[in-house]
Amino acid sequence: MSFKALFPLFFCILLQFSFISNFAGAIQQEAEALVEWKQSLHSLNQSFLSSWSLPRDALTAKNSNVITPCHWLGVGCENGSVTRLNLTNVGLTGTLYAFNFSSLPNLSFLDLHDNNLFGNIPSSISNLTKLTSLHLGNNQFTGKMPEDLGKITTLTNLNFINNFLSGQIPSSLGNLTSLTLLILGNNRFVGTIPPEVGYMISLTELRINLNNLTGPIPPSIGNLRGLKTLSVYGNKLSGSLPKEFDNLTNLTLCFLSNNTLSGSLPEKICQGGILQDFCASNNRFSGTVPKGLKNCTSLTRLRLDRNNFVGNITEDFAVYPVVDYIDLSYNNFEGEISSDWAKCKNMTSLKISDNNITGKIPPELGKATKLHYLDLSSNQLVGEIPKELGNLKSLFNLTLSNNKLSGNIPREVGNLLDLASLDLGANGLNGTIPEEIGNCPKMIYLNLSRNGLNGVIPWQIGSLVSLQVLLDLSRNSLSGEIPLQLGNLDNLEELDLSHNNFSGQIPSTFDQMQSLISVDVSYNNLEGPLPYGKVFMNSPLVSFMENKALCGNITGLIPCPRALNFSKRKGKNAVALITAPILGVGVFVCIVVAVALYLLKGGRGVKGEKNRKVGSQRENMFSIWSFDGKLVYEDIKQATKGFDVKYCIGEGGHGTVYKAVLSTGQIVAVKKLKTIQNPSFENAKNFEAEIEALSKIRHRNIVKLNGFCSHAQHSLLVYEYLERGSLGKLLGIEKEARELDWEKRVIVIKGIANALCYMHYDCSPPIIHRDLSSNNVLLDRDYEPRVSDFGTARLLSLDSCRNIWLHCS
Ligand SMILES: *[C@@H]1O[C@H](CO)[C@@H](O)[C@H](O)[C@H]1NC(C)=O
Ligand SMILES: *[C@@H]1O[C@H](CO)[C@@H](O)[C@H](O)[C@H]1NC(C)=O
Ligand SMILES: *[C@@H]1O[C@H](CO)[C@@H](O)[C@H](O)[C@H]1NC(C)=O
Ligand SMILES: *[C@@H]1O[C@H](CO)[C@@H](O)[C@H](O)[C@H]1NC(C)=O
Ligand SMILES: *[C@@H]1O[C@H](CO)[C@@H](O)[C@H](O)[C@H]1NC(C)=O
Ligand SMILES: *[C@@H]1O[C@H](CO)[C@@H](O)[C@H](O)[C@H]1NC(C)=O
Ligand SMILES: *[C@@H]1O[C@H](CO)[C@@H](O)[C@H](O)[C@H]1NC(C)=O
Ligand SMILES: *[C@@H]1O[C@H](CO)[C@@H](O)[C@H](O)[C@H]1NC(C)=O
Ligand SMILES: *[C@@H]1O[C@H](CO)[C@@H](O)[C@H](O)[C@H]1NC(C)=O
Ligand SMILES: *[C@@H]1O[C@H](CO)[C@@H](O)[C@H](O)[C@H]1NC(C)=O
Ligand SMILES: *[C@@H]1O[C@H](CO)[C@@H](O)[C@H](O)[C@H]1NC(C)=O
Ligand SMILES: *[C@@H]1O[C@H](CO)[C@@H](O)[C@H](O)[C@H]1NC(C)=O
Repeated sequence: MSFKALFPLFFCILLQFSFISNFAGAIQQEAEALVEWKQSLHSLNQSFLSSWSLPRDALTAKNSNVITPCHWLGVGCENGSVTRLNLTNVGLTGTLYAFNFSSLPNLSFLDLHDNNLFGNIPSSISNLTKLTSLHLGNNQFTGKMPEDLGKITTLTNLNFINNFLSGQIPSSLGNLTSLTLLILGNNRFVGTIPPEVGYMISLTELRINLNNLTGPIPPSIGNLRGLKTLSVYGNKLSGSLPKEFDNLTNLTLCFLSNNTLSGSLPEKICQGGILQDFCASNNRFSGTVPKGLKNCTSLTRLRLDRNNFVGNITEDFAVYPVVDYIDLSYNNFEGEISSDWAKCKNMTSLKISDNNITGKIPPELGKATKLHYLDLSSNQLVGEIPKELGNLKSLFNLTLSNNKLSGNIPREVGNLLDLASLDLGANGLNGTIPEEIGNCPKMIYLNLSRNGLNGVIPWQIGSLVSLQVLLDLSRNSLSGEIPLQLGNLDNLEELDLSHNNFSGQIPSTFDQMQSLISVDVSYNNLEGPLPYGKVFMNSPLVSFMENKALCGNITGLIPCPRALNFSKRKGKNAVALITAPILGVGVFVCIVVAVALYLLKGGRGVKGEKNRKVGSQRENMFSIWSFDGKLVYEDIKQATKGFDVKYCIGEGGHGTVYKAVLSTGQIVAVKKLKTIQNPSFENAKNFEAEIEALSKIRHRNIVKLNGFCSHAQHSLLVYEYLERGSLGKLLGIEKEARELDWEKRVIVIKGIANALCYMHYDCSPPIIHRDLSSNNVLLDRDYEPRVSDFGTARLLSLDSCRNIWLHCS
């Protein structure tokens, strides 16, 4: 073969080679850009991204082995070029400054949400000219949103939720005509909503809630015909809703609450007939409710509370067949409650408090059997409480206080087995308190004050062992002796029996009410010694004044004759009481009452009973005592999207903790125990230990357990949610740690000391936490601590207990 003949072949090979090398060069550049960024991240990320590596020589000898990043963690390619980068929730810590975006020209999907990335979002990100989806949510980005983002006209999804971005929302976003999702919620944006949002005609979801935006909602919003979700709640928006709002016929979810919006609502607000969730609460809206809302049968949730709406509720609302939640509270509505509300078959919450509603409560409401929450307080309601309300088997909160209701409290209230909160205060109710009220095992709040109730307190109220927040029977005409069974309410924190005609002694069983923080028995005819409980020692005179002859060691009261203590106190513990040593230790006043010895002796029995109780609750599968267990389980699953990591707020040895916003609006922390993969005895023990420990005790510095659920798949513990998370976490974040100044630290330390003191000395048997660390101390908004995580807690046995007592005295 001649050279001439060979030449084209050679040329062809050469060409091909150069193509490959170019091709390889591009992918190589992409790989290098990624590695360069990786190297700028926190050292902990380096090992995690170990697959992101170039052989040493590759950097220098470009044409050696072609490396491809296409199999690297989180990286996706198409046609040999990087098109996707997805690293969500993997603990990335660092900035985007070293990210050479120009080197990844084909990147179309960039998702780095749920990490610890910080610093500015670089303007050079706009070099990703093929980007369609950009998700940087749940990081700590600061600074302004780059103006140049408006150049990435291919964008369809843009999500910067939960960062610290500030400055104005750039008007250049108006060029993003393909954008369907714009999510900028929970940042620090200021200024007005740029009218250019109206150019983003493909938008279906616009979320700019929880920022500092001011000014009106621009009329151009009416161009967004496809808009399904509009969320602007929690800003400082003002002015009235533009009439163009009516053009949003695809609107399904609309959240306007917590602004200063005014004027009336647009007439045709539900024109498309698919509006489901309309939330306008806490604004300055006025006028009547538009006709368009009246026939909006698609509504599942309607919140107009805390505005200045007027009108006759009898006429302005209709039947909403699928509605779940209605809140019209704090407006100026008048008229009567229509029996039609009962036709809202799926309604779980109806709140119309603080209006000017007149007339009677319609007995038909008893047919709205899914109702969990009924609040008609602070109106002008008259007549009796219909006994039909006793049919509302799921009722959890019944608040009818501050009306002009009369007649008796219906006995049927005893049918409400899920009732946790009953407030009938400040009405004109009379007759006796029905003993059936003692049938409500989940009651945590009971307020019957400021009525004309008479007769004795039924002893059955002592069976309401869940009572925790309040028992208020004050300002009635109740008489007779205070039943000693009330002493069983050992979770109760506040007790008010003042302004009645009670006589006799305060029962000595009140010594056992370990959780009491506040007590008031003033203005009665009581006599004899005060109980020994801590709260009785620490309360001021006003709590006991105006009685017949109370005595005790409180300034203003006559001291009790010693003999009186002995002779009048009945029961086996009299001797113990007399010898009770009382120790006050500095600020942490800690009382050791030897009566506990008696309790400990009897403790076996008590503990056995509690064990049985816990056991039977376990068999029940669900026991969430403030709620309807099953519903709450579903609710929790829904609120956490099936325990999505997105809602995870912590992880411990025994389980993962999620934040769940229940459909009632209540926020709880849910600990899911690790049982699925490893249904070990150890885990079951932890679960039970925690329930047993926490269901026995209530203290302001110990985390409150709202309930639990044991299930083949999940074992859940439901707690109160604490805003600031764990002390350990807080101390790990420099800014937060600095904010936690010495004064606050003292609050924390005192609180922990109080909790420990309570567990060790006031509980019988004492509870030993065994795993106290900064990670197990949670803080509320005011830095008040709560000791948590009782998974390894132990109840001290009698013998080991003795040592403690000896040690103590
Ligand atoms: C991104 O990665 C996460 C975690 O690896 C995965 O759950 C998610 O489905 C991915 N997202 C996309 C759009 O590929
Ligand atoms: C990348 O973006 C920056 C800022 O937007 C710009 O100045 C620069 O020229 C771009 N680089 C390339 C290679 O396009
Ligand atoms: C859209 O892009 C054009 C051309 O780049 C620019 O002139 C215009 O100002 C942009 N529009 C907005 C609303 O920023
Ligand atoms: C809004 O601005 C006020 C003062 O202008 C500031 O105190 C507040 O922290 C800001 N809120 C947010 C979410 O940025
Ligand atoms: C709203 O829709 C009506 C009728 O389709 C139209 O005449 C009007 O111009 C639209 N307004 C806006 C702001 O889009
Ligand atoms: C409204 O929603 C429907 C159903 O999702 C969709 O087919 C329609 O195109 C939307 N309308 C507009 C104007 O986008
Ligand atoms: C509105 O603000 C109140 C009080 O600050 C807060 O409790 C509530 O959760 C907020 N609601 C919404 C929807 O942001
Ligand atoms: C409500 O009534 C108005 C006219 O009375 C009608 O245009 C609208 O389609 C109705 N909406 C629904 C959801 O039925
Ligand atoms: C009521 O709620 C149940 C369960 O949430 C649902 O299956 C049913 O379709 C709802 N009924 C109506 C009329 O919406
Ligand atoms: C409200 O409307 C109903 C029904 O039309 C009427 O009977 C009642 O008098 C009205 N109440 C007030 C306060 O206007
Ligand atoms: C409530 O209604 C009554 C009678 O309709 C009226 O006299 C009273 O002023 C109203 N109160 C308020 C606070 O609107
Ligand atoms: C019951 O409802 C009232 C009024 O809405 C509220 O103040 C109270 O906190 C609720 N109780 C519980 C236990 O949720």
